[in-house]
Amino acid sequence: MNLILLGPPGAGKGTQAKMLIRKFGLPQISTGDILRAAVKEGTPMGIKAREFMDAGSLVPDSVVVGIVEERLAFSDCHRGYILDGFPRTVAQAESLSATLLSKGSDIDHVLALTVDKEELLLRITGRRTCKVCGVGYHTLYDPPTESGTCRACGGELYQRDDDREETMRRRLEVYDLQTSPLVNYYAERNLLRTVDGMGDMSEIQQKLVTIIESKQG
Ligand code: AP5
Repeated sequence: MNLILLGPPGAGKGTQAKMLIRKFGLPQISTGDILRAAVKEGTPMGIKAREFMDAGSLVPDSVVVGIVEERLAFSDCHRGYILDGFPRTVAQAESLSATLLSKGSDIDHVLALTVDKEELLLRITGRRTCKVCGVGYHTLYDPPTESGTCRACGGELYQRDDDREETMRRRLEVYDLQTSPLVNYYAERNLLRTVDGMGDMSEIQQKLVTIIESKQG
């Protein structure tokens, strides 16, 4: 099963992907995570990507498409995968379709999470991640320990650089301009299901699972 999670920054794509990988035993492919790892390692691609990420802009299609093509060739993708944060432009979507077609494969589901803008801002500003084990928290909705450390490993938490207010607002604009056209793109191909991403994380998860299982059955 090949699944795309679509939605603006803070919609809960990463949160839901992590729950879905446990349920369906598929890998999560997050282009944001791959790019952040490259930035941290200081690779040439990471150094280049950082300029765009710090500005809240999209990394060029050619770079991101290459990353995803390489990742899809890994053996853990043979049974399928959950794409989180890719595609992000119509050009990326077309390139993905062409790659899958050449392998006799296709996208099975595109699940778009919708969340009010005010809630997106609240979610992004409250997001914290453990420096050691990478577990994600939210200062209000899913708080860490009282001393502000990771509940799983006690590690120190950090806030993503691009979660600062000015960059975050730019990311939301970029979503509206460059990524939201994918909603129509996939609707026209009868692949899109829209899911209300407001409310309890487990209830949202159940809605996603119900859609996936109804199509599989
Ligand atoms: P990326 O890392 O993909 O960021 P994003 O799409 O902006 O998504 P986020 O990670 O901000 O949000 P999310 O929807 O995953 O929300 P989450 O589950 O964490 O991309 C970062 C940058 O990399 C881009 O700006 C770009 O520069 C570059 N990039 C990446 N992919 C690219 C591509 N394909 N092309 C070009 N450039 C690319 O949730 C957010 C918070 O809310 C968390 O704290 C969580 O605990 C909380 N939360 C989640 N669900 C709920 C809920 N139901 N109720 C309450 N709180 C909730």
